[in-house]
Amino acid sequence: MIVAPDGSQVIFVESDAMDDFHYVDGQLHCEQVNLDELAQRVGTPAYVYSKRTLLGHYDRLAAAFAPLDPLICYSIKSCGNVHICRLLAERGAGMDVVSGGELYRARQAGAGMNHVVYAGVGKTDEEVRAALEAGIGWFNIESEAEFENTAAIARGMGVKTAAALRVNPDVADPRTHAKTTTGKKETKFGVDIERARRFFSKYGADPHVRLNAIHLHIGSPIYSPQPYAEAIERALDLIKRLRGDGFEVTALDIGGGFAADYETGQSPLAEQYAEQIVPLLRPFHEAGGRVILEPGRTIAANAGVLLTRVQYIKSGGSRKFVIVDSGMNHLIRVAMYDSFHFIWPTNVAPAHEPPARRDDLDLVGLEACDVVGPICETGDCFAKQRKLPPVARGDLLCVYSAGAYGMVMASNYNAMPRPPEVMVDGDRTYLIRQRETLEQMVEAERTCEPV
Ligand SMILES: Cc1ncc(COP(=O)(O)O)c(C=O)c1O
Repeated sequence: MIVAPDGSQVIFVESDAMDDFHYVDGQLHCEQVNLDELAQRVGTPAYVYSKRTLLGHYDRLAAAFAPLDPLICYSIKSCGNVHICRLLAERGAGMDVVSGGELYRARQAGAGMNHVVYAGVGKTDEEVRAALEAGIGWFNIESEAEFENTAAIARGMGVKTAAALRVNPDVADPRTHAKTTTGKKETKFGVDIERARRFFSKYGADPHVRLNAIHLHIGSPIYSPQPYAEAIERALDLIKRLRGDGFEVTALDIGGGFAADYETGQSPLAEQYAEQIVPLLRPFHEAGGRVILEPGRTIAANAGVLLTRVQYIKSGGSRKFVIVDSGMNHLIRVAMYDSFHFIWPTNVAPAHEPPARRDDLDLVGLEACDVVGPICETGDCFAKQRKLPPVARGDLLCVYSAGAYGMVMASNYNAMPRPPEVMVDGDRTYLIRQRETLEQMVEAERTCEPV
């Protein structure tokens, strides 16, 4: 059991560290809610989140890093529903945003603007102005050109702000997908760490944008504390040098990227990351430095699932295809990053309750299937040759660990409306986003005016 930062006890033991989706007599429940019954009410496909899991992961991280009293800025890009952001803001989270739209979401969620950090390589003038007006905590500056533009806008508006320089520590986790590794020199993010001192000597005295922090984000997911340790050591060394050069550096933002359990036991626990990271940052913190974290996935991924219904079963050559009513339009991770998502029917014989969520389950009576979506793309495939219990038309399947980078990346490709989002809280359920309608999909096109 761990204790939440507000002192309330959270029952969150090793065995249920993953999430609150579990079978009762062969029937999948989220917390106390029967998911087949929920799907009857809200239809499919649908994203379903567990409030207890969401807050449990946040609390777990907050407790593990408590010795550093960090500012935990929830990364809105991972799962941006305003209700989810509000729950986390009420729990004490700041917000990590990467666009004017995410800043707007943070505001709608009631987040404290001075606890907002704003990264992104392509901030527009309009977005910079909105963030300056909002009075955000830090701009995470990604280039010289961006610094100059931000400073010019702040000067023009007669306002001051604080900024962190995003550096590339040239560290990567070999298990991180090439499309989501960001800490190497060759990425478009931040500036090479060797350039940081020059950057500070050029811009460190700007009166409108106080350059007083260092930011890094090495990628996502990072399955080991080790790359963080390497990156943090490089950042602390840089801070020492910058201070030696006479600059004040009061905050270090170590980014996000903590992993989530797509398969049972796959990711380190928050405590295991903290075990290596906290001792490294303790002297910085004890000398008055502010530590900032930007977790998204590790909070949201296991808190959400995608429910989808089997439309048809068909065969092709030696393969059996299970065709469902959701696909890469609603959850693009498999097509984009070759990600693994555990998939299982929501209603099974007791012998088919999954003992763990893994690719290699070996229960009697399973059959290898390709689980595919309705989109006209060969890549629209959730799982290839995955062993599943028997499934038939009309069955409900659960795609697990879909809370992060799921709904936020959903599209209308093939002109299919985006699914609703439902929050489960104990035995209650709340529709936190309506299912999109066909009319809403074409509404913005009801114009043909000369421009
Ligand atoms: C700058 C920055 N911070 C934080 C995150 C959040 O990463 P994660 O959701 O893996 O924690 C990202 C993700 O891409 C990012 O680019």
